[in-house]
Amino acid sequence: MVRIALVAAPFAVVLGCATLAQPTPVDAAWAAARWPDASEDELRRGRALYVKRCAGCHAVRLPERYPSSTWEQHVDEMATRAELPAAERELMLRYLLTMSRHGRLAEVALANP
Ligand code: HEC
Repeated sequence: MVRIALVAAPFAVVLGCATLAQPTPVDAAWAAARWPDASEDELRRGRALYVKRCAGCHAVRLPERYPSSTWEQHVDEMATRAELPAAERELMLRYLLTMSRHGRLAEVALANP
């Protein structure tokens, strides 16, 4: 049993990271430095829109899977397919850009030693 637990533990950690992250106060602070009206609540709405509009055809791509610089292009390429209203694009992009920013994974690791 102990051996199974030892073997399974690293997988639990990997799977735990492979979910679509909820924004934290650190994420909100980063976003507010870039968009003064951004907030944690707004990032949550961006995440919810991302799930709502972008999970219909394929699994949602994790934000950190692509560099921040490419997300705008990805969203615009999919906007017609996703029937994405212009008003939702900005909120969704703020979530994606914040969560894919350089260094976010290191910040998460530091906060959860
Ligand atoms: C109507 C179906 C549909 C919806 C809705 C949809 N997608 Fe896609 N998506 C696809 C298909 C099909 C592909 C693979 C073929 C392609 O790349 O054109 C794809 C591929 C992708 C890729 C990979 C592109 C690459 O170059 O590797 C990304 C990123 C992506 N989608 C993001 C999104 C986002 C963000 C949304 C929401 C705004 C979304 N998708 C909504 C059908 C959809």
